Parts: sequence; structure tokens; C-alpha cells
Amino acid sequence: MHITRRETFNAAHRLFRPEWNDEKNLEVFGKCSNPNWHGHNYTLYVTVEGKVSDETGFVLNLKMLSKIIDAFVLQKLDHKNINTEVDFMQGKLASTENLAIGIWKQLDQPIKELGARLHRIKLEETEKNYVEYYG
Ligand code: NI
Repeated sequence: MHITRRETFNAAHRLFRPEWNDEKNLEVFGKCSNPNWHGHNYTLYVTVEGKVSDETGFVLNLKMLSKIIDAFVLQKLDHKNINTEVDFMQGKLASTENLAIGIWKQLDQPIKELGARLHRIKLEETEKNYVEYYG
């Protein structure tokens, strides 16, 4: 059984390689290379896999999953600058792909400790673009 929790957050970023000039960064990363930062309203879907408990009828307690996502992801990302303020993104390009991998690494172990398994991170950066990561 798969169960999904949907969360939203907003955060600032800039996609750029410091060794490239602004022109080359604009060519590769487009508007997301704006030197003065910009924000996105992200939507995060955390899908967990597990067996339905005979005792509770749940795969896992969604309130516990919500607390884990809040502590390990949202507290670190919401209203933050991904490039400069988010510990698990330091030294990485702040792309949606890398952010999904970072979020997976934040949640994988805590979800195991709830007795379930992280199945997918889906992360929407805009209404038109999203990534899915399966570990
Ligand atoms: Ni952007």
C-alpha cells in the first residue's frame, strides 16, 4: 500500500555555477540564474510504502509522518534561501532534482523508524515542472 502526504513550502534559490559568467549562467539556467535570487512555491508529495496494520488499519500514523516532514524538511526549507541557509543543500546546485534527492536523504531514516519505507519524493517547482525520485 502507498500513502502520500502533500505539503507546501516556499523558498528562494539561484541556479548558477560560480566559475561561469552571468551570460553563460543565463544561457544554461535561464531565469533561475537571476543573480538577485527569486522564489518558488513548491509542492512536496512524500509517498510511503508499507503494510496495513491489522491493529490500526493504517500504513502509518499520518500525524507522525507530518511531524517528521515538518522537523526534517519544512523547518529547514520554508521561507529560506536554499543556496545559503539550508544545511543539507550546501555545496549543491539548488535544482529541483537535487532538492528532491536532499529531501529523500532527510526523510529515509526517520520513516524507517516509523516502521514504513519511503517510496517516492515528488517535488513540483512550478505548475508545469516536477520531478519524482525513487531513491
Ligand atoms: Ni528558479
